[in-house]
Amino acid sequence: EVVYGHGRNPAQVVVVSNRGAYTFQEGHDQLITRRTVGGLASAVEPVLTAHGGTWISWCGRIDNTGKDRGVKLGIPPGEPRYHIQEVFLSAEEHDNYYHGFCNACLWPLCHQLPERCSFKKAYWDAYRRVNQKFAHITLEAKKEIYWIHDFHLALVPQLLRHQSPGATIAFFWHIPFPPADLFQILPWGRQIIYGLLGSDLIAFHTSRYVQNFLDTVACYYPARIYPEQGLIRLRNRRILVQALPVGINCHRFEQLAADPAVRARAEEIRKSLGAEKVLLGIDRMDYTKGIPERIRAMAYFLEKCPEYRGRVTLLQIAVPSRNGIGEYGALKQEVERIVGEINGRYDQMYGAVPVRYRHQSLDQAELVAHYLAADVLLVTALRDGLNLVAKEFVASRIDGKGVLILSPFAGAAQELHGALLANPFEPAHLAAKIKIALEMPFQEQKSRLESLRRIVKSRDVRWWWQNNLKLVKSLGSGLTPAAIN
Ligand code: G6P
Repeated sequence: EVVYGHGRNPAQVVVVSNRGAYTFQEGHDQLITRRTVGGLASAVEPVLTAHGGTWISWCGRIDNTGKDRGVKLGIPPGEPRYHIQEVFLSAEEHDNYYHGFCNACLWPLCHQLPERCSFKKAYWDAYRRVNQKFAHITLEAKKEIYWIHDFHLALVPQLLRHQSPGATIAFFWHIPFPPADLFQILPWGRQIIYGLLGSDLIAFHTSRYVQNFLDTVACYYPARIYPEQGLIRLRNRRILVQALPVGINCHRFEQLAADPAVRARAEEIRKSLGAEKVLLGIDRMDYTKGIPERIRAMAYFLEKCPEYRGRVTLLQIAVPSRNGIGEYGALKQEVERIVGEINGRYDQMYGAVPVRYRHQSLDQAELVAHYLAADVLLVTALRDGLNLVAKEFVASRIDGKGVLILSPFAGAAQELHGALLANPFEPAHLAAKIKIALEMPFQEQKSRLESLRRIVKSRDVRWWWQNNLKLVKSLGSGLTPAAIN
């Protein structure tokens, strides 16, 4: 087992990401801390809670006075297990770096939606500045291992490498990595790749993203690339590039699923829907998640299968996200309009309403209650790095009931054999899968869930971070990736 600092010893790992597990807000006389949503936060926090360390992240606060950092805080408040070092963004950086380069260039590009990209020089300039700021604060932490996360901070590894050539640097890219010819649309693609190549280990969720990344490196640099080993040799350096899909805390979801209060809440949710069968969607409100497409497929299903009208409901929970960005506001309006339209057309005035929609976030217990209340979970993203909701559903269904419909364009589809795959771009296809799921015999549900559960359990969140840290440590010891698992 890898233990990087435990008990009272200062831990030797520093995690760096744009978004951490908490946001801060100025309260009346104290700082209000709130938990954030998203796969990154839920995957990374367990390693710090278990072993301590420091998490350098932007906590949602804007500062225009030129200060680069805010408070250093023990987390969770009252019973600290690790530290957060808050990074400040200015209003201009928030616009140009976060809204601009991160969410209007890299995010749509990596999700293979180049028509949504807007390439502005001011975005790129701010991205460089903010990456320098993060690197500067990180270097002061002086830890044994630097673990950098996601597309917001791709330049940080190389910035650290310049200042500290012997440093051990791991990087995890949490979103899809697109094919090389698409990535090269980005006017600053070469610089992004150069930034990442400062790492000792670059990890992705799937082998497809690894392959795309290696192809992209080959387009920009005369590196020697060994795809079978996931290895790049560039000048005098070796860089490991590996697929390590994020896992979840399976035990926690099983525990919640067995909790009588959570089960009672699931019953209550089900009763309130008044439906014989419940379809569920839980996503951040994001255009990559395919929410309008899913609702349209539901309309198609009710059109073609009128016997289901008044008997089945799609419960769609859309978790508020990136509210300040125009496209996200427009998406919310579109979803609300389509929900109105389909309910207007297919509501029977009795029984189940076609679509029930809520725009809100759920805590973990409430999340599990929703998973338990559903017959079918729809994870039908147009493109998704991995998708933890799919794994959480599987872990929660200790009763062996429930069907997972999964998009082949979510990274999880490469792993989760046993799910029903459905193309989210094709309403007729998705509607057909909905029918199959609703009519699937219990024995088949059970055996599919059993194989899914084996996968989710064997690659849980602990497996994920231990292997990331073992791999990056192995580089110094001469171990090969094959020695890991
Ligand atoms: C995805 C990204 C994360 C990000 C999260 C929420 O999961 O991979 O890096 O934190 O979305 O998005 P936000 O913009 O609110 O941080």
